[in-house]
Amino acid sequence: MEIILDKTRWDILNHQAKVKILITGRRWGKSVLSAVFLLHQPFQQGERRLYIAPYYRQAKLIMFPLMKELMLQFGDVKINETELSFRFDNGAELSLKGADNPDSLRGISLGKNGSNGVVLDEMAYIKEGFFEEVITPMLLDHNAKALLTSTPNGFNHLYSKFLLGLGKNPMYKSWQFTTLEHGMISKEAVLEAKKTMTADQYKQEMLGTFLTAGNKAVWNFDRNVHLQPIKDMPPQMFFGLDFNVATMACIVMGRYSDGTVVAVDELVLHNSNTDEMARLMKKKYPYVKDCYPDPAGKSRSTVAVNNRSDHSILREHGFNVYAKSKAPHTKDRLYSLNRLLKDSEGKIRMTVAPKCVNLIKDYELCQRDNNGNLSKKDENLTHFLDASSYYIDLKEPAYRRTATTLEF
Ligand SMILES: Nc1ncnc2c1ncn2[C@@H]1O[C@H](COP(=O)(O)OP(=O)(O)OP(=O)(O)O)[C@@H](O)[C@H]1O
Ligand SMILES: [Mg+2]
Repeated sequence: MEIILDKTRWDILNHQAKVKILITGRRWGKSVLSAVFLLHQPFQQGERRLYIAPYYRQAKLIMFPLMKELMLQFGDVKINETELSFRFDNGAELSLKGADNPDSLRGISLGKNGSNGVVLDEMAYIKEGFFEEVITPMLLDHNAKALLTSTPNGFNHLYSKFLLGLGKNPMYKSWQFTTLEHGMISKEAVLEAKKTMTADQYKQEMLGTFLTAGNKAVWNFDRNVHLQPIKDMPPQMFFGLDFNVATMACIVMGRYSDGTVVAVDELVLHNSNTDEMARLMKKKYPYVKDCYPDPAGKSRSTVAVNNRSDHSILREHGFNVYAKSKAPHTKDRLYSLNRLLKDSEGKIRMTVAPKCVNLIKDYELCQRDNNGNLSKKDENLTHFLDASSYYIDLKEPAYRRTATTLEF
């Protein structure tokens, strides 16, 4: 691979700040620049440098192959595939680590004579305090420099670091670029990716902005836009289900031939069980056979009767059950739902019948926690949102998730 270093990249590499914070959209070239940051100064005798990803697996899958390729230019390097490290004849060593195992890092001094000692890649996804508690002490002995880089993830600890670098303290310096500003991928590719994203997703992932979206879980829902009475029943209909003893939630959904998804009705039972719900579904909508329940219902039952799982109960009542083998990532599920409600180009692909009062309440009131997952603080919320989203997660996913990255 041939690495291009433009003026922007050299400015970042040459800047005198001790802690550099680089915030960009996805695929800008953060990881490649991280590798250059760690390699472009000669390794001094006995010097140690570290590349740190949120998880060891990420370091191994993303950075190790790239480092190996770049290391070919140094003839005399010994590669340790299990430790993910590179050792030079003069005793210098570069290692790749995951922030998920901080104990493996203690007691190391990084850099030498003010050289670049460490990169934290995808810093927004590394635990708060990791840099201060684990890494900063390692930088003191040799006055080593650090690069913290990431795509934003809401207003978390990375945002505080970013602000530091915009301030007057010369120790810190921040940069922020969209995927297109000095980025390495084409405008066409970015526009193509934009089509698969919600507006907020695009702002965060491609424009690299810290989002103010509040913490609403269904941030694209607007009752003035999405509440639509049902004129014609959709030709394809199915149930979305979430099983809880206190609240059995079922959303009757459909899909029109143009692909628009609609929540037609909702069925609710309190202090009940899956058999009761199955009977109610058959009574109210005898011609609907397909169900998209909570994947967790594959192995467990809400009320244990003869060891039947919720899914097998539905099948016994004659329904077809479609579910992922594993519970989907809540964050992905929310993105998929929001994107269907309104995509980055403003297109509305889902509406809700006004009679779905519990669903509407969930869409308007459910919050996300600090990690972007659905907040379960209020026990009366989320069941209907959940029920409505398993179909969407299965049939209309906003992301395809590979081992460590989001693919588009
Ligand atoms: N300096 C560069 N010179 C040449 N190509 C580059 C450079 N930086 C990035 N690229 C190309 O762009 C691709 C994306 O780069 P990289 O993985 O570093 O981006 P990233 O910002 O870390 O992406 P992600 O947000 O997915 O982590 C690389 O695979 C490479 O092909
Ligand atoms: Mg990267």
